[in-house]
Amino acid sequence: MKFTKTNEVKNIFNKISYKYDFLNNLLSFGLHRLWKRKLVNLLEPINGEHWADLCCGTGDLAFLISERVSPRGSITGIDSAEDILNIAKNKSELKKNKFIKWEILDVLEINDYSKNFDGICMSYGLRNLNNVEEGIKKVFDLLKDKGRAGFLDFNHSTRNSLSNIFQKIYLRLIVVTISRLFNLGPEYAYIEKSISNFPKKNELINIAKEVGFKKAEYRTIWGGQMGILILTK
Ligand SMILES: C[S@@+](CC[C@H](N)C(=O)[O-])C[C@H]1O[C@@H](n2cnc3c(N)ncnc32)[C@H](O)[C@@H]1O
Repeated sequence: MKFTKTNEVKNIFNKISYKYDFLNNLLSFGLHRLWKRKLVNLLEPINGEHWADLCCGTGDLAFLISERVSPRGSITGIDSAEDILNIAKNKSELKKNKFIKWEILDVLEINDYSKNFDGICMSYGLRNLNNVEEGIKKVFDLLKDKGRAGFLDFNHSTRNSLSNIFQKIYLRLIVVTISRLFNLGPEYAYIEKSISNFPKKNELINIAKEVGFKKAEYRTIWGGQMGILILTK
């Protein structure tokens, strides 16, 4: 297989898929649910709108949005890793949620622009894409005029700032140590590397403006550990 970041990322998420929800809850002390709910609250999806959850993983955002846009709208969860998407599909069967559509696709390879969304959300996905700028451009192209997009991810804080030091300690001592117990240490060690390559707040805002978004706002949460980027086309 050709080695690319895309394949590396897909292998990581297929490998950790069976423990993904469990470790997400454990490693974030359950807080990821609050952060995801906050993102959805900021985006205010409403009944009748058409939404996409890109890099949906096990589908947390898609489930939250389905509560808001049903019964007249739609929500599609898209992910490139089959095993993690199968977990999302199994969860929707358990919840008897037939409303969400699931698609296996690389976000950067979506080229069906009849997919024209009122809103797009992504949690912990943008950082994993081969190219962040291409990802934001893709979201722009997939949105209707005045559409809105929201991204939740780790905040890439200034080097040696308090929140940066805390983040490193948290990732090394808690995340990697605990994930090692499940033989997933290297996969979770990848998070720190990916944050160091991820644009900082102002860089994300600049990319969004260059791509064409009219409005770009960024806020940090949980003492600067996480960031939410909200864009309006
Ligand atoms: C950290 S998980 C986040 C999952 C979910 N959004 C959440 O917040 O729990 C990142 C997800 O992005 C997916 N992903 C990474 N690169 C992708 C790409 N190019 N296209 C589609 N999905 C991608 C991975 O397969 C993985 O499920």
